[in-house]
Amino acid sequence: MFRIAIIGGGLGGLFAALSIHHHCSSGDIQIDVYEQAAQYKEIGAGVAIGPNGAKLIEKLGLLEEAWKIAGKRGKDWFSFRRYDNGAEILTVPIPETGRMLQLPMHRAEFLDLLVRAVVARGAATLHTNKQCSKLEERGNDMSVTFADGTTVTADLVIGADGIHSAVRRHYVNDNARYGDMVVYRGLCAISEIKDIWPVHTYATIWMAPGKHFLTFPICDNQVLNVVAFVSTPLEKLGQAKESWTLAGKKSEVKEEFKEFAPAVLSIIDKMDANPLKWILYDREPLAQWSFSGGKVALLGDAAHAMCPHQGAGAGQAMEDGYILGRALHDYFQALDTPQEHSLAAAMQLYQSVRHPRAVRVQTTSRQAGDVYELQAAEVAGLNYDDALPVAKSMLENRMKWIWGDDIDQAYNDTRDHSFQIQGRHLDSDPVPVISC
Ligand SMILES: Cc1cc2nc3c(=O)[nH]c(=O)nc-3n(C[C@H](O)[C@H](O)[C@H](O)COP(=O)(O)OP(=O)(O)OC[C@H]3O[C@@H](n4cnc5c(N)ncnc54)[C@H](O)[C@@H]3O)c2cc1C
Ligand SMILES: *[C@@H]1O[C@H](CO)[C@@H](O)[C@H](O)[C@H]1NC(C)=O
Repeated sequence: MFRIAIIGGGLGGLFAALSIHHHCSSGDIQIDVYEQAAQYKEIGAGVAIGPNGAKLIEKLGLLEEAWKIAGKRGKDWFSFRRYDNGAEILTVPIPETGRMLQLPMHRAEFLDLLVRAVVARGAATLHTNKQCSKLEERGNDMSVTFADGTTVTADLVIGADGIHSAVRRHYVNDNARYGDMVVYRGLCAISEIKDIWPVHTYATIWMAPGKHFLTFPICDNQVLNVVAFVSTPLEKLGQAKESWTLAGKKSEVKEEFKEFAPAVLSIIDKMDANPLKWILYDREPLAQWSFSGGKVALLGDAAHAMCPHQGAGAGQAMEDGYILGRALHDYFQALDTPQEHSLAAAMQLYQSVRHPRAVRVQTTSRQAGDVYELQAAEVAGLNYDDALPVAKSMLENRMKWIWGDDIDQAYNDTRDHSFQIQGRHLDSDPVPVISC
Protein backbone atom coordinates (compact mmCIF):
# COMPACT_ATOMS: atom_id res chain seq x y z
CA MET A 1 0.00 0.00 0.00
CA PHE A 2 1.41 3.36 -1.11
CA ARG A 3 0.22 6.13 1.22
CA ILE A 4 -0.20 9.67 -0.10
CA ALA A 5 -0.81 12.54 2.32
CA ILE A 6 -2.11 15.70 0.67
CA ILE A 7 -1.69 18.69 3.00
CA GLY A 8 -4.39 21.29 2.24
CA GLY A 9 -7.89 20.68 0.91
CA GLY A 10 -8.31 23.72 -1.33
CA LEU A 11 -9.02 23.62 -5.06
CA GLY A 12 -5.47 22.38 -5.76
CA GLY A 13 -5.34 19.61 -3.14
CA LEU A 14 -8.78 18.20 -3.97
CA PHE A 15 -8.18 18.28 -7.70
CA ALA A 16 -4.86 16.46 -7.16
CA ALA A 17 -6.63 13.77 -5.12
CA LEU A 18 -9.13 13.24 -7.94
CA SER A 19 -6.42 13.18 -10.58
CA ILE A 20 -4.21 10.67 -8.76
CA HIS A 21 -7.23 8.46 -8.14
CA HIS A 22 -8.21 8.77 -11.81
CA HIS A 23 -4.76 7.96 -13.19
CA CYS A 24 -3.69 5.33 -10.67
CA SER A 25 -6.88 3.33 -10.24
CA SER A 26 -4.96 0.08 -10.66
CA GLY A 27 -2.37 0.98 -8.03
CA ASP A 28 -2.59 -0.10 -4.41
CA ILE A 29 -2.78 3.42 -3.02
CA GLN A 30 -4.40 5.28 -0.19
CA ILE A 31 -4.93 9.03 -0.39
CA ASP A 32 -5.64 11.18 2.67
CA VAL A 33 -6.34 14.91 2.51
CA TYR A 34 -5.53 16.90 5.65
CA GLU A 35 -7.24 20.30 5.80
CA GLN A 36 -6.57 22.73 8.63
CA ALA A 37 -10.06 24.24 8.67
CA ALA A 38 -13.05 22.72 10.44
CA GLN A 39 -14.85 22.37 7.10
CA TYR A 40 -14.04 22.16 3.42
CA LYS A 41 -15.11 25.60 2.30
CA GLU A 42 -14.17 28.56 0.15
CA ILE A 43 -14.75 32.28 0.16
CA GLY A 44 -17.73 33.89 -1.54
CA ALA A 45 -16.11 35.01 -4.75
CA GLY A 46 -15.56 33.87 -8.29
CA VAL A 47 -12.73 31.96 -9.88
CA ALA A 48 -11.93 31.97 -13.58
CA ILE A 49 -11.09 28.63 -15.12
CA GLY A 50 -9.70 29.02 -18.63
CA PRO A 51 -9.80 26.43 -21.43
CA ASN A 52 -6.66 24.71 -20.09
CA GLY A 53 -8.35 24.05 -16.75
CA ALA A 54 -11.70 23.25 -18.36
CA LYS A 55 -10.02 20.57 -20.45
CA LEU A 56 -8.66 18.89 -17.30
CA ILE A 57 -12.06 19.07 -15.62
CA GLU A 58 -13.42 17.27 -18.67
CA LYS A 59 -10.65 14.65 -18.61
CA LEU A 60 -11.51 13.82 -15.01
CA GLY A 61 -15.17 13.40 -15.97
CA LEU A 62 -16.45 16.47 -14.13
CA LEU A 63 -17.46 18.68 -17.04
CA GLU A 64 -21.19 18.03 -16.90
CA GLU A 65 -21.37 19.01 -13.22
CA ALA A 66 -19.11 22.02 -13.70
CA TRP A 67 -21.06 23.27 -16.70
CA LYS A 68 -24.23 23.56 -14.59
CA ILE A 69 -22.63 26.03 -12.17
CA ALA A 70 -20.41 27.90 -14.61
CA GLY A 71 -21.07 31.28 -16.17
CA LYS A 72 -21.75 30.82 -19.87
CA ARG A 73 -20.01 32.86 -22.54
CA GLY A 74 -21.81 34.23 -25.59
CA LYS A 75 -19.69 34.84 -28.70
CA ASP A 76 -16.89 36.78 -27.03
CA TRP A 77 -14.35 35.80 -24.40
CA PHE A 78 -13.49 39.13 -22.91
CA SER A 79 -13.49 42.82 -23.55
CA PHE A 80 -11.19 45.66 -22.54
CA ARG A 81 -12.81 49.06 -22.15
CA ARG A 82 -11.91 52.66 -21.42
CA TYR A 83 -12.60 53.46 -17.80
CA ASP A 84 -13.99 56.92 -18.50
CA ASN A 85 -16.65 56.34 -21.15
CA GLY A 86 -16.71 52.55 -21.40
CA ALA A 87 -15.73 52.58 -25.10
CA GLU A 88 -14.25 49.37 -26.42
CA ILE A 89 -10.47 49.05 -26.62
CA LEU A 90 -10.35 45.40 -27.62
CA THR A 91 -12.80 42.50 -27.63
CA VAL A 92 -11.40 39.01 -27.97
CA PRO A 93 -13.84 36.63 -29.69
CA ILE A 94 -14.07 32.92 -28.99
CA PRO A 95 -11.93 31.21 -31.63
CA GLU A 96 -13.97 29.39 -34.23
CA THR A 97 -11.64 26.44 -34.43
CA GLY A 98 -11.36 23.80 -31.74
CA ARG A 99 -13.60 23.33 -28.76
CA MET A 100 -12.48 25.65 -26.00
CA LEU A 101 -14.59 26.26 -22.94
CA GLN A 102 -14.29 28.76 -20.14
CA LEU A 103 -15.71 27.70 -16.78
CA PRO A 104 -15.96 30.76 -14.53
CA MET A 105 -17.45 29.56 -11.24
CA HIS A 106 -18.26 30.53 -7.69
CA ARG A 107 -15.32 29.26 -5.63
CA ALA A 108 -17.51 27.66 -2.98
CA GLU A 109 -19.64 25.88 -5.58
CA PHE A 110 -16.56 24.56 -7.37
CA LEU A 111 -15.02 23.34 -4.11
CA ASP A 112 -18.32 21.60 -3.20
CA LEU A 113 -18.29 19.91 -6.59
CA LEU A 114 -14.77 18.59 -5.97
CA VAL A 115 -15.64 17.40 -2.45
CA ARG A 116 -18.72 15.58 -3.76
CA ALA A 117 -16.67 13.90 -6.48
CA VAL A 118 -13.97 12.80 -4.02
CA VAL A 119 -16.61 11.27 -1.76
CA ALA A 120 -18.67 9.67 -4.55
CA ARG A 121 -15.61 8.06 -6.13
CA GLY A 122 -14.01 7.10 -2.84
CA ALA A 123 -10.93 8.86 -4.19
CA ALA A 124 -9.55 9.94 -0.81
CA THR A 125 -10.32 10.21 2.89
CA LEU A 126 -11.01 13.82 3.82
CA HIS A 127 -9.84 15.01 7.24
CA THR A 128 -10.58 18.35 8.89
CA ASN A 129 -8.95 20.27 11.77
CA LYS A 130 -5.56 18.93 10.70
CA GLN A 131 -3.07 21.75 10.53
CA CYS A 132 0.31 20.47 9.44
CA SER A 133 2.98 21.83 11.77
CA LYS A 134 5.98 19.58 11.23
CA LEU A 135 7.54 17.22 8.69
CA GLU A 136 10.22 14.63 9.31
CA GLU A 137 12.07 12.37 6.93
CA ARG A 138 12.36 8.90 8.40
CA GLY A 139 14.09 6.45 6.10
CA ASN A 140 11.62 5.59 3.35
CA ASP A 141 8.74 7.44 5.00
CA MET A 142 7.74 10.96 5.82
CA SER A 143 6.07 11.69 9.12
CA VAL A 144 3.65 14.58 9.34
CA THR A 145 2.70 16.13 12.67
CA PHE A 146 -0.41 18.25 13.13
CA ALA A 147 -1.18 21.06 15.53
CA ASP A 148 -3.47 18.74 17.52
CA GLY A 149 -0.44 16.60 18.35
CA THR A 150 -1.31 13.66 16.09
CA THR A 151 1.17 12.21 13.62
CA VAL A 152 0.76 10.21 10.41
CA THR A 153 3.30 8.59 8.11
CA ALA A 154 3.20 8.57 4.32
CA ASP A 155 5.27 7.49 1.34
CA LEU A 156 4.55 10.75 -0.44
CA VAL A 157 3.55 14.10 1.05
CA ILE A 158 2.00 16.63 -1.31
CA GLY A 159 2.10 20.21 -0.08
CA ALA A 160 -1.09 21.82 -1.41
CA ASP A 161 -1.36 24.21 1.50
CA GLY A 162 -1.42 27.53 -0.30
CA ILE A 163 0.71 30.66 -0.31
CA HIS A 164 1.69 30.28 3.38
CA SER A 165 2.51 26.60 2.94
CA ALA A 166 3.94 24.89 6.02
CA VAL A 167 5.35 22.15 3.76
CA ARG A 168 7.24 24.71 1.68
CA ARG A 169 8.50 26.44 4.82
CA HIS A 170 10.11 23.20 5.96
CA TYR A 171 12.48 23.38 2.98
CA VAL A 172 12.55 27.00 1.85
CA ASN A 173 12.99 30.17 3.82
CA ASP A 174 11.32 32.95 1.85
CA ASN A 175 8.55 35.48 2.26
CA ALA A 176 5.45 36.33 0.30
CA ARG A 177 5.97 39.40 -1.86
CA TYR A 178 3.52 42.30 -2.05
CA GLY A 179 1.68 42.42 -5.40
CA ASP A 180 1.41 46.24 -5.36
CA MET A 181 -2.38 46.27 -5.37
CA VAL A 182 -5.33 46.25 -3.03
CA VAL A 183 -8.32 44.34 -4.37
CA TYR A 184 -12.02 44.58 -3.54
CA ARG A 185 -14.09 41.52 -4.40
CA GLY A 186 -17.81 41.14 -4.28
CA LEU A 187 -20.83 39.63 -5.95
CA CYS A 188 -23.82 41.22 -7.62
CA ALA A 189 -27.09 39.56 -8.61
CA ILE A 190 -27.41 39.95 -12.37
CA SER A 191 -31.18 40.45 -12.07
CA GLU A 192 -30.38 43.64 -10.12
CA ILE A 193 -28.42 45.25 -12.93
CA LYS A 194 -30.17 43.96 -16.03
CA ASP A 195 -32.00 47.21 -16.67
CA ILE A 196 -29.17 49.61 -15.96
CA TRP A 197 -26.46 47.71 -17.73
CA PRO A 198 -26.86 45.25 -20.58
CA VAL A 199 -25.04 42.33 -19.01
CA HIS A 200 -22.41 40.90 -21.26
CA THR A 201 -21.62 37.27 -20.96
CA TYR A 202 -17.91 37.81 -21.36
CA ALA A 203 -15.33 39.05 -18.86
CA THR A 204 -14.90 42.82 -18.97
CA ILE A 205 -11.95 44.87 -17.80
CA TRP A 206 -12.21 48.65 -17.55
CA MET A 207 -8.66 50.03 -17.68
CA ALA A 208 -7.48 53.21 -15.96
CA PRO A 209 -4.02 54.40 -14.97
CA GLY A 210 -3.32 52.71 -11.64
CA LYS A 211 -6.75 51.00 -11.40
CA HIS A 212 -8.81 48.38 -13.16
CA PHE A 213 -12.26 46.93 -12.71
CA LEU A 214 -13.02 43.31 -13.70
CA THR A 215 -16.35 41.50 -13.94
CA PHE A 216 -17.46 38.12 -15.22
CA PRO A 217 -20.64 36.09 -14.79
CA ILE A 218 -20.67 32.93 -12.65
CA CYS A 219 -23.44 30.66 -11.24
CA ASP A 220 -25.10 29.91 -14.59
CA ASN A 221 -25.14 33.66 -15.36
CA GLN A 222 -27.17 34.49 -12.25
CA VAL A 223 -24.34 36.28 -10.46
CA LEU A 224 -21.70 38.77 -11.55
CA ASN A 225 -18.28 38.37 -9.96
CA VAL A 226 -16.76 41.80 -9.30
CA VAL A 227 -13.06 42.42 -8.71
CA ALA A 228 -11.75 45.97 -8.34
CA PHE A 229 -7.97 46.56 -8.32
CA VAL A 230 -6.20 49.65 -6.97
CA SER A 231 -2.43 50.08 -7.24
CA THR A 232 -1.25 51.05 -3.77
CA PRO A 233 2.30 51.70 -2.55
CA LEU A 234 3.37 49.47 0.33
CA GLU A 235 3.82 52.47 2.65
CA LYS A 236 0.15 53.37 2.25
CA LEU A 237 -1.05 50.00 3.54
CA GLY A 238 -0.15 50.77 7.15
CA GLN A 239 -1.49 48.14 9.52
CA ALA A 240 -3.30 46.38 6.70
CA LYS A 241 -0.13 44.93 5.22
CA GLU A 242 0.01 42.23 7.85
CA SER A 243 -3.57 41.20 7.21
CA TRP A 244 -4.72 38.77 4.55
CA THR A 245 -8.48 38.86 4.74
CA LEU A 246 -10.05 42.16 5.60
CA ALA A 247 -13.60 43.36 5.36
CA GLY A 248 -13.83 46.21 2.88
CA LYS A 249 -16.46 48.92 2.63
CA LYS A 250 -18.52 49.69 -0.41
CA SER A 251 -17.93 53.37 0.22
CA GLU A 252 -14.19 52.82 -0.31
CA VAL A 253 -14.85 51.15 -3.66
CA LYS A 254 -17.21 53.98 -4.68
CA GLU A 255 -14.60 56.57 -3.81
CA GLU A 256 -11.76 54.77 -5.62
CA PHE A 257 -13.78 54.23 -8.80
CA LYS A 258 -15.86 57.43 -8.90
CA GLU A 259 -14.33 58.50 -12.22
CA PHE A 260 -15.32 55.28 -13.96
CA ALA A 261 -18.05 54.80 -16.57
CA PRO A 262 -21.74 54.66 -15.48
CA ALA A 263 -21.89 50.86 -15.93
CA VAL A 264 -19.14 50.43 -13.34
CA LEU A 265 -20.86 52.79 -10.92
CA SER A 266 -24.14 50.89 -11.29
CA ILE A 267 -22.44 47.59 -10.54
CA ILE A 268 -20.77 49.00 -7.42
CA ASP A 269 -24.12 50.34 -6.33
CA LYS A 270 -25.73 46.92 -6.56
CA MET A 271 -22.90 44.72 -5.31
CA ASP A 272 -22.97 43.34 -1.76
CA ALA A 273 -22.44 45.84 1.00
CA ASN A 274 -19.26 44.37 2.43
CA PRO A 275 -16.81 43.40 -0.29
CA LEU A 276 -13.77 41.40 0.68
CA LYS A 277 -10.62 43.46 0.75
CA TRP A 278 -7.59 41.56 -0.38
CA ILE A 279 -3.97 42.66 -0.24
CA LEU A 280 -2.28 40.94 -3.18
CA TYR A 281 0.77 38.76 -2.62
CA ASP A 282 2.73 36.36 -4.73
CA ARG A 283 6.03 34.50 -4.32
CA GLU A 284 9.35 34.53 -6.11
CA PRO A 285 9.78 31.51 -8.37
CA LEU A 286 11.25 28.55 -6.55
CA ALA A 287 14.04 26.41 -8.02
CA GLN A 288 12.85 23.09 -6.61
CA TRP A 289 9.34 21.74 -5.95
CA SER A 290 10.39 18.27 -4.88
CA PHE A 291 12.32 17.41 -1.74
CA SER A 292 13.47 14.59 0.54
CA GLY A 293 14.35 12.30 -2.33
CA GLY A 294 10.96 12.67 -4.01
CA LYS A 295 8.95 11.92 -0.87
CA VAL A 296 7.64 15.49 -0.81
CA ALA A 297 6.26 17.61 -3.66
CA LEU A 298 4.65 21.04 -3.73
CA LEU A 299 1.75 22.10 -5.93
CA GLY A 300 -0.54 25.05 -6.55
CA ASP A 301 0.05 28.25 -4.60
CA ALA A 302 2.47 26.42 -2.28
CA ALA A 303 4.74 25.97 -5.30
CA HIS A 304 4.01 29.11 -7.33
CA ALA A 305 1.67 31.66 -5.74
CA MET A 306 0.95 34.24 -8.40
CA CYS A 307 -0.86 37.51 -8.90
CA PRO A 308 -4.40 36.91 -10.25
CA HIS A 309 -4.10 39.07 -13.36
CA GLN A 310 -4.32 36.26 -15.88
CA GLY A 311 -7.03 34.39 -13.94
CA ALA A 312 -4.68 31.44 -14.05
CA GLY A 313 -3.77 30.42 -10.49
CA ALA A 314 -6.42 27.73 -10.06
CA GLY A 315 -5.83 26.39 -13.57
CA GLN A 316 -2.11 26.10 -12.87
CA ALA A 317 -2.81 24.28 -9.59
CA MET A 318 -5.05 21.86 -11.52
CA GLU A 319 -2.37 21.28 -14.13
CA ASP A 320 0.03 20.38 -11.30
CA GLY A 321 -2.39 17.80 -9.90
CA TYR A 322 -3.09 16.41 -13.34
CA ILE A 323 0.60 15.92 -14.19
CA LEU A 324 1.33 14.52 -10.72
CA GLY A 325 -1.33 11.92 -11.42
CA ARG A 326 0.29 10.99 -14.71
CA ALA A 327 3.78 10.85 -13.21
CA LEU A 328 2.53 8.59 -10.40
CA HIS A 329 0.75 6.38 -12.92
CA ASP A 330 4.02 5.87 -14.78
CA TYR A 331 5.84 5.38 -11.49
CA PHE A 332 3.50 2.54 -10.48
CA GLN A 333 3.81 0.99 -13.94
CA ALA A 334 7.58 1.01 -13.55
CA LEU A 335 7.49 -0.61 -10.11
CA ASP A 336 7.81 -4.05 -11.67
CA THR A 337 11.45 -3.21 -12.13
CA PRO A 338 12.14 -1.66 -8.74
CA GLN A 339 14.80 0.98 -8.61
CA GLU A 340 16.00 2.86 -5.62
CA HIS A 341 15.36 6.37 -6.92
CA SER A 342 12.28 5.93 -9.01
CA LEU A 343 9.96 8.08 -6.86
CA ALA A 344 12.54 10.86 -6.93
CA ALA A 345 12.69 10.53 -10.72
CA ALA A 346 8.89 10.62 -11.00
CA MET A 347 8.73 13.81 -8.94
CA GLN A 348 11.59 15.27 -10.97
CA LEU A 349 9.59 14.51 -14.10
CA TYR A 350 6.53 16.23 -12.60
CA GLN A 351 8.66 19.24 -11.83
CA SER A 352 10.37 19.31 -15.23
CA VAL A 353 7.02 19.35 -17.02
CA ARG A 354 5.30 21.86 -14.78
CA HIS A 355 7.99 24.23 -13.54
CA PRO A 356 8.90 26.20 -16.69
CA ARG A 357 5.25 26.75 -17.60
CA ALA A 358 4.05 27.68 -14.11
CA VAL A 359 6.96 30.07 -13.58
CA ARG A 360 6.20 31.73 -16.91
CA VAL A 361 2.55 32.17 -15.90
CA GLN A 362 3.69 33.52 -12.52
CA THR A 363 6.04 36.05 -14.11
CA THR A 364 3.69 37.21 -16.86
CA SER A 365 0.80 37.55 -14.38
CA ARG A 366 2.62 40.41 -12.66
CA GLN A 367 3.26 42.01 -16.03
CA ALA A 368 -0.40 41.67 -17.07
CA GLY A 369 -1.49 43.79 -14.09
CA ASP A 370 0.90 46.49 -15.23
CA VAL A 371 -0.53 46.44 -18.75
CA TYR A 372 -4.15 46.70 -17.50
CA GLU A 373 -3.19 49.73 -15.41
CA LEU A 374 -0.99 51.35 -18.05
CA GLN A 375 2.11 51.00 -15.92
CA ALA A 376 4.16 48.67 -18.11
CA ALA A 377 7.55 49.93 -19.33
CA GLU A 378 6.19 49.96 -22.91
CA VAL A 379 3.62 52.67 -22.08
CA ALA A 380 5.56 54.63 -19.47
CA GLY A 381 5.33 58.36 -20.04
CA LEU A 382 2.52 58.13 -22.62
CA ASN A 383 -0.80 59.82 -22.03
CA TYR A 384 -3.92 57.65 -21.78
CA ASP A 385 -4.97 57.92 -25.41
CA ASP A 386 -1.50 57.19 -26.74
CA ALA A 387 -0.95 54.32 -24.30
CA LEU A 388 -4.11 52.41 -25.26
CA PRO A 389 -3.04 51.19 -28.73
CA VAL A 390 0.25 49.94 -27.26
CA ALA A 391 -1.55 48.17 -24.43
CA LYS A 392 -4.04 46.72 -26.92
CA SER A 393 -1.25 45.13 -28.95
CA MET A 394 0.13 43.59 -25.75
CA LEU A 395 -3.26 42.12 -24.83
CA GLU A 396 -4.44 40.66 -28.13
CA ASN A 397 -2.73 37.29 -27.92
CA ARG A 398 -1.66 37.35 -24.32
CA MET A 399 -3.55 34.26 -23.11
CA LYS A 400 -3.09 32.03 -26.14
CA TRP A 401 -0.28 29.85 -24.80
CA ILE A 402 -1.75 29.58 -21.29
CA TRP A 403 -5.11 28.44 -22.65
CA GLY A 404 -3.94 26.50 -25.67
CA ASP A 405 -0.82 24.47 -24.87
CA ASP A 406 -1.32 20.70 -24.74
CA ILE A 407 0.03 19.58 -21.37
CA ASP A 408 -0.48 15.87 -22.08
CA GLN A 409 1.77 16.32 -25.10
CA ALA A 410 4.30 18.23 -23.01
CA TYR A 411 4.30 15.45 -20.44
CA ASN A 412 4.81 12.78 -23.09
CA ASP A 413 7.63 14.72 -24.73
CA THR A 414 9.50 15.29 -21.49
CA ARG A 415 9.00 11.72 -20.34
CA ASP A 416 10.00 10.18 -23.64
CA HIS A 417 12.95 12.40 -24.42
CA SER A 418 14.72 13.18 -21.22
CA PHE A 419 13.48 10.86 -18.53
CA GLN A 420 13.10 7.26 -17.71
CA ILE A 421 11.16 6.95 -14.51
CA GLN A 422 12.58 3.56 -13.77
CA GLY A 423 16.09 4.78 -14.53
CA ARG A 424 18.35 6.89 -12.39
CA HIS A 425 18.22 10.06 -14.38
CA LEU A 426 18.39 12.24 -11.34
CA ASP A 427 21.39 14.23 -12.42
CA SER A 428 19.56 15.86 -15.31
CA ASP A 429 19.98 19.57 -15.86
CA PRO A 430 18.91 21.71 -12.96
CA VAL A 431 15.62 23.50 -13.40
CA PRO A 432 16.20 27.05 -14.62
CA VAL A 433 15.21 29.80 -12.25
CA ILE A 434 13.60 32.80 -13.87
CA SER A 435 13.66 35.89 -11.76
CA CYS A 436 11.02 38.58 -12.05
C1 LIG B 1 -7.72 38.17 -5.48
C2 LIG B 1 -7.48 36.83 -6.12
C3 LIG B 1 -8.20 36.46 -7.23
C4 LIG B 1 -7.97 35.24 -7.86
N1 LIG B 1 -8.67 34.97 -8.97
C5 LIG B 1 -8.37 33.83 -9.64
C6 LIG B 1 -9.05 33.52 -10.85
O1 LIG B 1 -9.92 34.25 -11.31
N2 LIG B 1 -8.70 32.38 -11.50
C7 LIG B 1 -7.74 31.55 -11.02
O2 LIG B 1 -7.44 30.53 -11.65
N3 LIG B 1 -7.10 31.81 -9.87
C8 LIG B 1 -7.38 32.92 -9.16
N4 LIG B 1 -6.72 33.20 -8.02
C9 LIG B 1 -5.70 32.25 -7.56
C10 LIG B 1 -6.32 30.98 -7.02
O3 LIG B 1 -7.27 31.32 -6.05
C11 LIG B 1 -5.26 30.12 -6.40
O4 LIG B 1 -4.16 30.05 -7.25
C12 LIG B 1 -5.81 28.74 -6.17
O5 LIG B 1 -6.93 28.77 -5.33
C13 LIG B 1 -4.71 27.88 -5.53
O6 LIG B 1 -5.22 26.80 -4.88
P1 LIG B 1 -4.39 26.03 -3.78
O7 LIG B 1 -5.22 24.85 -3.49
O8 LIG B 1 -2.99 25.85 -4.21
O9 LIG B 1 -4.30 27.00 -2.52
P2 LIG B 1 -5.47 27.48 -1.56
O10 LIG B 1 -6.72 27.71 -2.32
O11 LIG B 1 -4.89 28.61 -0.78
O12 LIG B 1 -5.75 26.23 -0.60
C14 LIG B 1 -4.86 25.87 0.42
C15 LIG B 1 -5.61 25.04 1.44
O13 LIG B 1 -4.69 24.54 2.39
C16 LIG B 1 -5.17 24.78 3.69
N5 LIG B 1 -3.99 24.90 4.56
C17 LIG B 1 -3.15 25.95 4.66
N6 LIG B 1 -2.16 25.67 5.53
C18 LIG B 1 -2.38 24.43 6.00
C19 LIG B 1 -1.69 23.60 6.93
N7 LIG B 1 -0.56 24.00 7.54
N8 LIG B 1 -2.17 22.35 7.17
C20 LIG B 1 -3.31 21.91 6.54
N9 LIG B 1 -4.00 22.68 5.66
C21 LIG B 1 -3.53 23.92 5.39
C22 LIG B 1 -6.00 26.01 3.58
O14 LIG B 1 -6.95 26.11 4.63
C23 LIG B 1 -6.65 25.83 2.21
O15 LIG B 1 -7.84 25.09 2.28
C24 LIG B 1 -6.98 34.36 -7.35
C25 LIG B 1 -6.27 34.71 -6.20
C26 LIG B 1 -6.50 35.94 -5.60
C27 LIG B 1 -5.69 36.29 -4.39
C1 LIG C 1 0.73 10.46 -24.39
O1 LIG C 1 1.12 9.14 -24.04
C2 LIG C 1 0.06 8.28 -23.65
C3 LIG C 1 0.66 6.97 -23.21
O2 LIG C 1 1.46 7.17 -22.07
C4 LIG C 1 -0.90 8.11 -24.82
O3 LIG C 1 -1.98 7.29 -24.44
C5 LIG C 1 -1.40 9.47 -25.30
O4 LIG C 1 -2.19 9.33 -26.45
C6 LIG C 1 -0.24 10.43 -25.57
N1 LIG C 1 -0.82 11.75 -25.79
C7 LIG C 1 -0.33 12.63 -26.63
C8 LIG C 1 -1.04 13.93 -26.72
O5 LIG C 1 0.66 12.41 -27.29
